[in-house]
Amino acid sequence: MSRFDELFEAAKKARLNAHAPYSRFAVGAAVLTDDGRIFAGCNVENASFPEGWCAETTAIGAMVAAGGRRIVEAVVTADAALCTPCGGCRQRLAEFAPGEASVHVCDTGGLMKSFRMADLLPAGFVLHGEDRKS
Ligand code: THU
Repeated sequence: MSRFDELFEAAKKARLNAHAPYSRFAVGAAVLTDDGRIFAGCNVENASFPEGWCAETTAIGAMVAAGGRRIVEAVVTADAALCTPCGGCRQRLAEFAPGEASVHVCDTGGLMKSFRMADLLPAGFVLHGEDRKS
């Protein structure tokens, strides 16, 4: 069963803590693990611009540090037309999310569009020819 509402609330809350003084584009993300836990994150920018990172990456890092390894659903939220995860974050999400996992893209008011992980990153890279997660 989807836990969209909780994920959206967690992502929105994390977004309020975004450190985005350079782009002024605050993003929040939240991931749900297969054992039912939710981890959230925001983007963290840096004066040396390429050194910043995305909200999805923060959420994934929090999940991994707490022992989570499998993402079953995720939400990204920003005040934007459609804040889909960047290419790098698609690869980072795909490391832990099977192809059928839902990634919901929201503005600050609610759901805009839902994607399957496999549609966000078709033919994604896997090491050693492991089974593709689609
Ligand atoms: N950003 C995210 O955190 N997630 C996305 O899905 C897209 C972009 C951040 C990176 C940067 O801090 C700001 O948004 C502008 O690109």
